[in-house]
Amino acid sequence: MAKLAGIDIGNDSIKVITDGSYKPLIVPNIITPGYDRPIFQEEDSALKALDVIVYSPALKQNNRRWFVGQLATELDDSYELEETDNKALSDQSLIVALTGLALAGISGSEGAAGGFAQADEVEFVVGTGLPVRTYAKYHESFEARLVGEHEVTFLTTPQLRNRKVKVRIRRAVVSIEGAAALFNLATHENLQVRDEEIYNGVIGVCEIGSLTTDLPVVNRMSIDNNFSYGEQMGMAVYLDAIIRDVEDTYQYSFASRAKLAARIRNRDYTIQRIGEGQVSIQPIVDMYFQRAAHRVAELIKKRWKKYPDIQCYYVLGGGAAALKPYLQEAAGTMKLRFMPESELQNMYGYLKVAKSRMNQAGYAEAVT
Ligand SMILES: Nc1ncnc2c1ncn2[C@@H]1O[C@H](COP(=O)(O)OP(=O)(O)OP(=O)(O)O)[C@@H](O)[C@H]1O
Ligand SMILES: [Mg+2]
Repeated sequence: MAKLAGIDIGNDSIKVITDGSYKPLIVPNIITPGYDRPIFQEEDSALKALDVIVYSPALKQNNRRWFVGQLATELDDSYELEETDNKALSDQSLIVALTGLALAGISGSEGAAGGFAQADEVEFVVGTGLPVRTYAKYHESFEARLVGEHEVTFLTTPQLRNRKVKVRIRRAVVSIEGAAALFNLATHENLQVRDEEIYNGVIGVCEIGSLTTDLPVVNRMSIDNNFSYGEQMGMAVYLDAIIRDVEDTYQYSFASRAKLAARIRNRDYTIQRIGEGQVSIQPIVDMYFQRAAHRVAELIKKRWKKYPDIQCYYVLGGGAAALKPYLQEAAGTMKLRFMPESELQNMYGYLKVAKSRMNQAGYAEAVT
């Protein structure tokens, strides 16, 4: 039996949830070529040491060994995605996505924190999505890349040493980033309406990701073709600028954006300078995040002016979590709505969209 899964293939991190599990799996979208690594002490979870060989008919670079996610963020020759990368076509994103799905497929209801099933084959119907700007042109080829038979072999991953997992994707339902998040907010688990205002209203979304910011306008759960909009800009520009500025000012380097973002998320701004004392990078972070917030607030204001029927704006994505206090200040009298777990809303939405497609209930037909 195929499992239902929602997978948000983010440029910063890939988020996966399977139907019935309550714990999402989050894998940083970072890879580096793998090699025989010395292991002094085995990592305490599979997520910390994803060491895999991936085969897929859709990959250009096949049967290669990769360190994926956290294991790669530690190394400074890792690849993070750039503005020019297209997630619908990117080998890297597919490698991380398949690794995540393989892991989710054999994990119990507690995600990768619990034990693993012995299955050597997992079958999925997946819900996923693309940015507003990429959707029309690429959703078909994206779907075609995902559907089919792939294979992930774990090498030195704890609890999964030398396990080969076949990942069969029977169907992929591709939605639009931001709109699927709104579908999640509008509905209950059983897909019944939870929030009438969102479900029947004209709602603006500003979903701030790592490389893209999506501003779909959703009218009675249908995407508005004329007013939906996407920007080729996200948190990465600002995180990269902070990394450069900290380097120039304090000669301290963060190995990756993910490392910096994790620090900011934990409000841990103190860095240790070699041979010198400690210093706080918060003033640098504040400066760039204020700039980012200002730009996003202007963007929303402009969109809202173009389409005054919009009843309210939801600000979502990891960028919303990062920028919330700065955005509230930059927005002035403009009322913006924020949600908890904002970077997971797309993922939950994709699962629901896939579910509703499978139920043939017709609910989410519009947002897909
Ligand atoms: N609480 C937080 N504090 C600081 N930064 C955060 C926080 N949450 C997320 N981020 C950062 O915000 C950015 C966007 O995160 P998000 O998970 O939405 O990106 P993504 O979905 O992977 O990217 P994209 O939507 O462009 O494909 C990332 O760089 C992430 O590290
Ligand atoms: Mg995203």
